[in-house]
Amino acid sequence: MKDEIKKIALLTSGGDAPGMNTCIRAVVRAGIYYNLEVYGIKRGYQGLIENDIQLMSSRSVSNIIQRGGTILKSARSKDFMLQSGMDAAYQNLKNKDIDALIVIGGDGTFTGANIFSNKFDIPIIGIPGTIDNDLNGTDATIGFDTATNTALDAIDKIRDTANSHNRLFFIEVMGRDSGYIAIKTGISGGAEAILIPEKKTTINELIAILDRGSKQKKSSSLVVIAEGGESGGVIDLAKKVEERFSYYDTRVTILGHLQRGGTPTCTDRVLASLLGVRAVEGLKEGKSNMMVGTINKKVVFTPFEKALKKKKTIDRELLRISKILSNN
Ligand code: F6P
Repeated sequence: MKDEIKKIALLTSGGDAPGMNTCIRAVVRAGIYYNLEVYGIKRGYQGLIENDIQLMSSRSVSNIIQRGGTILKSARSKDFMLQSGMDAAYQNLKNKDIDALIVIGGDGTFTGANIFSNKFDIPIIGIPGTIDNDLNGTDATIGFDTATNTALDAIDKIRDTANSHNRLFFIEVMGRDSGYIAIKTGISGGAEAILIPEKKTTINELIAILDRGSKQKKSSSLVVIAEGGESGGVIDLAKKVEERFSYYDTRVTILGHLQRGGTPTCTDRVLASLLGVRAVEGLKEGKSNMMVGTINKKVVFTPFEKALKKKKTIDRELLRISKILSNN
C-alpha cells in the first residue's frame, strides 16, 4: 500500500439516496482507521467551490447509519461545470492540503469528477449512490434496494384499493431514463404491464394486455411505468388508454420523491459500508479516476470513463419473466 495520502475529503452530490449516510460513516471511520484526516464537504461540488469544508471525526458520524438523506447535504452544481468553479474548488482543496477526494453520487457526479481529476491530477474515487441503478460497473447502486422496497410497499397498498373498486392503476416510479426501479417493482408487485424506456411498448400492445386480463375477469390491473418510459408522461398515457379501453375505472399515482427517502435497507447498508471502506483503501492503493462497485458479489474498480460510456442495459431475464407472468 502506498502511504503518501494523508488527508481526504468526501462529498455527496446529485439526487440523495438512502444509504448515503451509511456510506459517509464508513468512509470517515475507515479513513480514521488508516490514520487519515477526513474532511466533509457540504452541498456537493457547490460547497467545495464555496469552501464549506469541515474536519470530521468518528463521533460526527454517530447514529447516522440508519438515517435516510445525507448529513453532508447534496446539490447539482452548475458552477462546477465552469473553469472558474473548478479552479476555486481545487484551490480550496490545496489550501487545506487535501490529497484526494471521494464522491458519492451518480453519473453527473462522476462526469464532474472525471474532468476535475484529469485537469488537476487529484485522485478521486467515486461511490455509486443513486436510486436509479443506472451505472455500469456495479450490479447495484446504493439506495436502489431501499427505493424499490419503498415503491413496492406503495404498489401493494394501491393493489388493495384497486381490487376493492375494480380499477386500473397507472403507477409511475422514478429512475430518470432507466427502467430498473420499474422492472423490479413491477415484477415483485405483480403488475399486469411494465413500461420501461429500454423496451418500448406500443399503446396497442398495452391495450391488448389489459384486454386479455379483462376477458379473464381480472378484478383490477396495475401498470407500472418508469418516469422516462413515455414521452407524454403517465397522465397522458392513462388518458389515451381510457379513451379506448373502458372496462375499468382508471386512476394514476405518481410515487415521486418518497422513493428517495427513508431508512436504508440492510442490503443498502451493507453495500454502502463495503464500498465506503474499499473506496478509502483504493485511494491508499494509488487508484484514481475510478468508481468502486460490486459485480457478482466481488468489489470491482471501473474507470469513470467506462462506467459512464454507455447506458446500463436492462437485465433481459427480468424482461422475459415479466412477460410470462403478466400473460394470464
Ligand atoms: O437521480 C435520482 C432521481 O430521483 C431520478 O430518479 C429523478 O429523475 C431525479 O432524481 C429527480 O430529480 P430532482 O430531485 O432534482 O427532482
